This record gives sequence, C-alpha cells and structure tokens, in this order.
Amino acid sequence: MVQDQGRPSGVSTIAGMFDPRQFRSSGHTLVDLLADYLEQSLQGSGPVLDWCPPADAMRHWQQPLPRHPVLAVQALADRLRDAVLAHSLHIHHPRNLGHQVATPLPVAALCDLAAALTNQAMAVYETGPAATLIERQVIRWLGQLVGWQETEGVLTSGGAQANLTALLAARQRTAGWDVWQRGMAAGPPLRILASEHAHYSVARAAGIMGLGADAVVKVPADDRGRMAMRALTEAQRAVAATGARIMAVVATAGCTPTGSIDPLQDIAAFCREHQLWLHVDGAHGASALLSERHRDALRGIALADSVVWDGHKLLYMPAPVSAVLYRDPAASYAAFAQEASYLFQGHSSQEEAYNTSYRTLECTKRMMGLKLWVAFSLYGTAGLGMLVDTVFATARRLAAKLAAAPDFELLMEPQTNIVCFRHRNGDQAVIRKTLVESGAFHLTQVRLHDRIWLRATVMNPFTTDGDLEALLATIRHYASH
Ligand SMILES: Cc1ncc(COP(=O)(O)O)c(C=O)c1O
Repeated sequence: MVQDQGRPSGVSTIAGMFDPRQFRSSGHTLVDLLADYLEQSLQGSGPVLDWCPPADAMRHWQQPLPRHPVLAVQALADRLRDAVLAHSLHIHHPRNLGHQVATPLPVAALCDLAAALTNQAMAVYETGPAATLIERQVIRWLGQLVGWQETEGVLTSGGAQANLTALLAARQRTAGWDVWQRGMAAGPPLRILASEHAHYSVARAAGIMGLGADAVVKVPADDRGRMAMRALTEAQRAVAATGARIMAVVATAGCTPTGSIDPLQDIAAFCREHQLWLHVDGAHGASALLSERHRDALRGIALADSVVWDGHKLLYMPAPVSAVLYRDPAASYAAFAQEASYLFQGHSSQEEAYNTSYRTLECTKRMMGLKLWVAFSLYGTAGLGMLVDTVFATARRLAAKLAAAPDFELLMEPQTNIVCFRHRNGDQAVIRKTLVESGAFHLTQVRLHDRIWLRATVMNPFTTDGDLEALLATIRHYASH
C-alpha cells in the first residue's frame, strides 16, 4: 500500500486502495492544496498562464508506466501543485479574459467530487435514483426561467452534444417520416437555417445526422451580429424553391464570436407563421434570464421548441454540464429510440419516464445536476444573477474604455460579456500570441469581416477596472514593439 507520507511501500493492497481513512486524509490534503490555489488565483498574483510550447512541456510527461507504486500521497500532492496546477490556465485569475469558460464556484467543485465518488451511472432510474430526481428538478427550474410551466429535457456533457440532441429531436418531429428508423434517404433533403455566427456544433450536428454540413443554410447577420430577419425570409424562400424541407431554425442567444443575441421574438413569430421548429442555442447567453436587468434581451425565448443552456459558462459550473430543454415534454423522447431489454422495459410504464437514457446519447453519464441544484439552493437565482450582472457590467466598462481610446477600435457594444476590438497598429494575431505567451492576460481572437479582432470574454466577477486598464496598456506596449 502507498503510505500517507514518505516513500511508497512498493506493494498495493485492495483494502488500501479503498481505505476510507486514507481517503479522508488525502481529501483534506487535496482541499487544502486547492484552497491555497484558489486564493492565489483570485488574487492574480502570478501569470494567468505559465506558457510553455507543448512539445517542450511534453518532455516532463514521459515517465515509464509504473508496474508498482512510485509515489506516495504527499509526493503526489506536490506533483499536483508543481506540475499540474502551476501549468494550468488559471481560470480564477482576474486577468483571464479568454474563452467562455466559467470561473467555477468552489462549492460546485466539491459536488463534482461527490458525483465522482458515488459514480451514479444514471442510465436508468435505479442506477442513480437521487441523481435522476435532482436532474429533473434542475431541468424544471431552468425551464421555469425560460418561461415554461412544464419542462422535460436532459443534462448532457456539453453544449455541442446538447445542440445535437435537440436537433435530432427537431428532425424526428418535423421531417414528416420516421428518420430514425428509415434514414435520410426515405424523404426529401432537410435543411437547417442558422445565423452565419451559429456555433460550429450546429454544422457538426448536421454532418453527424447525415444531412451534410452544407445543409446548414447560413443566414447573414446585421452589423450588431444578430440574424437579419430579411435574410431569414430570403433563405426560407430559397430553400422552399429547391423542394428541400426546413427541419429547424437555429437562433443563437449569445453567439460565440461576439455574444450577440438574435432577435428571438421576431424569429419565433416567423417560425410560428411557417410552422418551423425553433431551436435556441442559449449555451452562452441563456443565463441572462437570471438577471433582472438583462432578461429582456431574451424576450421570445419561451416560444422556442427547444433551448440549450450551458451550466459551465454563465451558470458558473465546472465543465461539463449543459441542459437541453423542450417546451413540449413529449418531444424529449424524439431524439433517440432503442430496444435494449437489459435497460428499458418500454414506454408503457410510468416509471420508465424516469430512465434518463431515453433522452440522451450517453448511456452511463455523470451526476451533473447536483452542482446546479446546490448552487441554486445556496445562492438562489438572485445570487447567480448577480454574477451575470457583474460580468456584463465589466464588459460594458471595457467597451467604454476602448471606445474612448483613439488607438483602439471597438467592433460593437457588447450585448452580453464578449468584447471584440482591435489596436489600430500591428498584427492582431501577433499581439494576442505575445500577450498570451507573456502570461499577462489570456485573450482570444476571432476573424470577422475579413479582419482579425481581439476578443475578451469577461467571465470572472473579480476582474477590476485596474485589470482592464492594464489590458489596454499591455496591448499598446506590444502593438508598438
Ligand atoms: C453558442 C454556443 N453553442 C454551443 C457551444 C458548444 O458548447 P460546449 O463547448 O459546451 O460543447 C458553444 C461553445 O462555446 C457556444 O458558444
């Protein structure tokens, strides 16, 4: 057995591997380590990222496969601190302004530990009774925020899978034949209408579903990054003229490049008029529903047939946890169908409705609802909404600073928490690479209108005006060198 302290003994016993006392003491060591890490990250004392080219960093991960124990718990803790945490992107650092990845709530990380230890497979109710009920509770809460009385759905491992799931349901409901059973060849070609700024997972879903990625008709956006209604009408007419059938319109609430929110109310009215399935990809922006101030930007979302909402973005959860929500509870069964007598006993029994696998690609899946349930229970919609309000306000202050600076160009006023801008001098991609590799800030970039824009996503509620001013000063410095 590996001893708590000192050198490994060289032999493992099964009892030692599962020893609750060992778990308790290792757990305390781990939590102490992570609490120190969290404290340092929030203070922003060091770099955001200790950049090392991957091929060089890989040299530190060439150990031979251990036949016998090579490290004791304390040595592993040291390695976790020095080799893993120190070489991670510090997501709680106030100068981490890169991707749309949550600054996770620490309590949610503890829930993930509980999810891992209890390892509820969740395929059917009996392999995760509490996990199943918690998930259904959370789905109902999210549906309530969307504006629905009754909601069904499922939690998936990420927004990409969530979009695929919703679009599978849309296809089965709207194609006009049983696509699941008979395949795509049994009917006319199907099309999806989506903004030019829709996430790539929509085209990927079309590829996976056998429509071909080209089946996604890209609808141009206006200069605020929102799907243009006239272009949507033209796209619908053009598709109808070819004899193809539209299986869904995908509106994006918080598009990936700029965070813009498509005009949901207008798109919903259009979909009603033409009897089209409306899917709202709210992976990023649906959390604005938590905010008294910003909820209105999502007006019309309740008219959607399906909504995707990522917990690991603006709900401040560790990845992955995404919700697929359906306005019509029965639609939650449309995406998948399988005979599997070792799991399912058929839809007839009421209890079968509690078997999660009917609604998801995954068979075994993680208990993802616990962390959301705990966060809503501890902080309420008011607390979580405060996080959204804070980062949206910080993004607006960043935009104001950029607009006031003559050497910067602001692409547009942010509608959520994503700010795209350029320095008027220099190559933006080079500026970004230098900035990221310096460890001063983490920032992303996006190509729009044939130009590269720097892209800041404000996820961290601890990012201050001082950090924003330092960002402008550092970019200026790199732009002039
Ligand atoms: C609008 C939108 N939809 C879907 C996704 C995919 O989500 P995930 O990364 O959770 O798979 C993203 C990711 O950034 C996104 O921005």
